[in-house]
Parts: sequence; C-alpha cells; structure tokens
Amino acid sequence: MTLHPHDLTTKPAAPARIMHPAERVKARSPSDWRIIRRLVRDYLGRQWAALSIAAACMIIAAGTNGALAAILNPAIKKIFLDKVPHMLVTIPLEIMGIVLLRAISGFGEQYFTNSTAERIVAAVQRDMFRSQITLDLGSLNAIHSGEMISKFLYDAAVLRNAITRGVAGLGKEIVTLLALFVVMLLQDWQLTLISLALLPAVAFVTQKLGRSLRKSSTRGMEETGTLARALSETLSGRRIVKAYNLEEHVAAIAYGRIERRLQYVIRAVRSRSASVPSTDLIGGIAAAITVAFAGWQAMHGQLAINEFASFIAAMLLAQQPVRNLSQLMAISSEGLSAANRLFEIIDAKPSIMDAPKAKPLQINRPRGGGISFDRIRFQYQPGSPALDDISLEIPPGKKVALVGPSGAGKTTIFNLILRFYDPHAGTISIDGQDLRTVTLTSLREHIALVTQEAILFDESIAQNISLGRTEASHEEIVAAAKAAAAHDFIAAIGGYETTVGEGGLKLSGGQRQRIAIARAMLRNAPILLLDEATSSLDSESERQVQDALAKLMEGRTTIVIAHRLSTVLDADIIYVLDRGRVVERGTHPYLIAQGGLYARLYRHNLEEPLGCS
Ligand SMILES: Nc1ncnc2c1ncn2[C@@H]1O[C@H](COP(=O)(O)OP(=O)(O)O)[C@@H](O)[C@H]1O
Ligand SMILES: [Mg+2]
Repeated sequence: MTLHPHDLTTKPAAPARIMHPAERVKARSPSDWRIIRRLVRDYLGRQWAALSIAAACMIIAAGTNGALAAILNPAIKKIFLDKVPHMLVTIPLEIMGIVLLRAISGFGEQYFTNSTAERIVAAVQRDMFRSQITLDLGSLNAIHSGEMISKFLYDAAVLRNAITRGVAGLGKEIVTLLALFVVMLLQDWQLTLISLALLPAVAFVTQKLGRSLRKSSTRGMEETGTLARALSETLSGRRIVKAYNLEEHVAAIAYGRIERRLQYVIRAVRSRSASVPSTDLIGGIAAAITVAFAGWQAMHGQLAINEFASFIAAMLLAQQPVRNLSQLMAISSEGLSAANRLFEIIDAKPSIMDAPKAKPLQINRPRGGGISFDRIRFQYQPGSPALDDISLEIPPGKKVALVGPSGAGKTTIFNLILRFYDPHAGTISIDGQDLRTVTLTSLREHIALVTQEAILFDESIAQNISLGRTEASHEEIVAAAKAAAAHDFIAAIGGYETTVGEGGLKLSGGQRQRIAIARAMLRNAPILLLDEATSSLDSESERQVQDALAKLMEGRTTIVIAHRLSTVLDADIIYVLDRGRVVERGTHPYLIAQGGLYARLYRHNLEEPLGCS
C-alpha cells in the first residue's frame, strides 16, 4: 500500500537541514557582509577587550620602529658631533627602552591576535557541537561523522587563519596606506591621481582571484571532509579490511580521495600565490607610468627633484601594504567560506523538539508505562513506508514481543517510542499522554534501551555503567553490575576503574552487553526496550545475559525484539510484523495453532538454533 499525501495528518519530517554540496551551489550563499556582520556580532564583538589591546600593541610596535630610526638623528648629533659625554649613557638607554617596548608590544600583538582567534574558533566549535548534539536523528544521519569532524578541525583552522591575519593585518595596512597617501597628496596631487589610475585594475584582479580562491578552497574543504569520511570508515572497519585482504583496495580509494583533495588545494594555492605578484605587477606598471609623467613634468620645470624623490618613495612604500592587503583579501575570502560552512552547522535546527507547552511525562504508579500505537504510519524515505498503519497495545508491566523478518519495521517502532523520529500519521501515547505533548527529556528518562551492539565509550567501566544515571553512587553501580551478572568479570579484569578501550574493544561481546544491561538496570526506568539484545552473543554469554535480562524486566513494561524465538515464548503478547504491518498477534500457543507466519518462523528457528537472519 502506498502513502498518499492526504493520508498524512502531520507533515513528513522536514528534509535534513545540512545541504548536499550540489544543493549548496544552487542555493545562493549569504552575502559576505552578512557573514562578516555575524562574525563580528556573535564572536569578534565579545573579544573586543583583547582585540583593543592587540590593536594598541600593534600601534606601539609600529611606533617603536619609527622611534628607532628617528633616534639616529640625535644620536649622531649629540654623540658624534657635539660629543656630549652623558649622551653615551642616555642614548643607549633610550635605545634599550625602545627595544624593550618593541619586544613587549610585539609579544602583545602576537599573543592577543592569535589567542583571540583561537578563542573565537573555540566558541564556534562549542556552538557547532551544541547544535549537532541537539539535532534529531534524521538530520544527524544526513551528514557523515567523518565529515563533521573535518569541519570541526579543518574548516575551523581555515577560519582561524583568516581571523589572525585579518585582525592583525587589516587595521595596520589601512592606516599605513592612508598615511602614505597623505604624503603623496602633499607632494603632488596630480601625480597621486595618476598613480591611483590603476587601482581599479588591482581591485578587479583581487576580486577575481578571491572568487576563484574561494571556490577552490570550498571544494578543498569538502574534499577534506570526504577524505575524513573515508579514513573513519576504513579505520572502524579495520578487522574486515584485514580479514578480506582489502588493504590495496582501500588504499586505492584513499589515494583517489587524497589526489582529488590535492587538486583543489593546489588550485587554492595557485590563486593565493598569484595575488601578491599580480598586484605587484600592476603596481610596477603604475610606477612606470608615474615616472614617465613625473619626468615629463620635471622637464617642463613643474616638479622639483626633492618633491619627485619623496613622492616616489611614498609610492614605493605603499606597495607593501597594498600587496599585503590583496593577500589579506584572498585569505579572508577563504575564511568567509569556512565561516559560512560552519554557520550552516550551527544553524541546523532539530525537527524534533519540545512542543511549546510540553509537560513532563507522568507514569502511573505503581505499575505504569503502557504504550499504545494508534494507526501509525512512518517512512524514512518518501515512497517506502517503514510502518504502514500499525496499531499496538503494550499493557503496563507486561512483556510484549515484536517478531518478524529483517526489515519488517521492529527497530523503527523503538525509534518512534523514543521520538528519534515522529510518525507521519497516527498517535503514540504512554499512559494516555501523546508523546508530542511531553518533554523529550522526561520521555527518554523513563525508557531504558538495550541494543544489539552495546555502545561503550573509552572511559572506565564505572563511568560506562553510570551513563544510565549519572548521579548514581558507587554502591549503586556495583549493585547494578551484580544484577547484570557483570560483577565477577569486572573484578577479574581489574575492577571498575579499568578503561574499556575505543568502542569497548578490550571486552568480549557478552561482557560489553552485560555492561550495557547494568547501565539499563541503573537507569531503573519503567519502560524497557530490548532490540535483539542477545543476538550477537554466543550461547554461553547469551545464557548469562538472559538471566540478567530476566531480572531487569521484573516489574517493568518491556518490549523485546528477538530473532531467537525461544526467548519470547513467555511473552504476554507477541506481535508479528511483516513489511511494516502487523500480520498476527497473540500468545505463543495461539500463534502456533494459527499456523501462519509466526508458526513458520518458529519452525525455521527450531531447525536452525543459531537462526539469526
Ligand atoms: N535510517 C534509515 N533510513 C532509511 N531507511 C531505513 C532506516 N532505518 C530503517 N530503514 C528501513 O525501514 C525499514 C524497517 O527497518 P527496521 O525497523 O530497522 O527493521 P527491523 O528492525 O524489523 O529489521 C527497512 O526497510 C529499512 O530498510
Ligand atoms: Mg532491527
């Protein structure tokens, strides 16, 4: 059965907010001014104190350079010409004073610009992280974790570079340039105008290079993301890579990615390298024209040699700030595209949030947590419904089993109970409260989930268990571990402070699973969701885990998804799912007597005791 738009009582989940590169090209990126304004408002503005100190240091440092040159005059006059004895002390002391001031202000300039840039990047990273962690699963799944990490590190570094250079450079170069411009004007305003005639050309070239740099640098960042993605996939699949002799194969893929990224990065390097020489070239041509014009004026007696000399000096001095500025433009256009990519992450809004008047979920006492699905429809992707008009009653305190072939929609039911996604039609309620009217935090507080793959973090075993309830005491953690039949092996491998290694690699599947069960024990939630919690275990660990699970289920509303049907024989109700629909329901003896899908699955299961599909 297909879903028609008019079947939907609520809007389908909005498409993921993180745009695909191809889409991004189409969507007009926000103007540079918008990005700059936001950078200033949200980040640079908060660092104004440090930035002012940096600017002050910059001016002092520049002043000390002038002072060092200026002191030559009195030094020569008073020491060498007038031979004033005490000047032998005074002048060197003055020099030392200036040098000291230059050292201090130089340090201040470097320290405050660089540390501010780092602080800004950290603030951007914090905002990115917060936004990522609060995103709903649908949007999160749209972006690969490797790419996200690359944005966090590489794009952020591009931004930092732009801020460091921009903050340090912009003010200094513009001030210098203005000063030199005034000097030139004072000497000869006509010559000044002529020397400026080629300025539009500089602007044109700078803009062109900036645009091409921006494009290649954006692609470079994207390719860095793809590379990070390939790396993270290879690393997490390293056992398979070895087992199937795939080293050469994955190397070839990685080399391809590295090569592609290299091409874009080199293109960016080319534009960046071209920015200074091309401004130099135009500046040189301007100088040549000016000399010709000045010479012509001099020959007609309109320009004195000293005026000419000082004009040309100012003009040549102006070349350095102009080339610095043009390089700065290039770097800041890279920085802006990095900022744009980072803001995209920060602006991603979760499509699953608390309703405006959401209340905490109230669970009936002593026995509560009844769940009901009323005509639920849901699809991950348009056109292929994962749940198709499903209604379920899970009575409080009972054990209900979901059974069915792979892909039937069992895990999807858990995803909806936890509100990882919202259904497109129908209502899910717990103890009579529509899930969309309760807060997400309170909903998830009342649910403990144990999945097939126990997710462990590279922390101590105690910390991993306490994730179930972070404020639990050590005694409670130990009690939970004992109930989960995990205490003995934990003691054997060195106690609760032992770290489990990346992804729990140092533990066996059964051990990891028992830690996950201890975590669920500690959570002490009225609703328990077990998604093939024992499927990946050998029969010995399964027996131990089954015992632990039986204890965990006592007094809770439990939904079990199990491939091994022997584990659901005692369920109060068994729902049999197939292709997103409930095809049968009842107790084990009833369903066997019916001789339908369940009976077939069960027979199949008995023939193949390890029958994991
Ligand atoms: N994150 C997802 N994105 C797209 N489709 C999905 C996703 N998760 C599951 N599906 C699809 O939804 C259907 C039901 O999946 P699932 O609930 O995981 O099945 P089961 O747990 O019964 O094996 C399947 O067709 C599956 O391909
Ligand atoms: Mg599943």
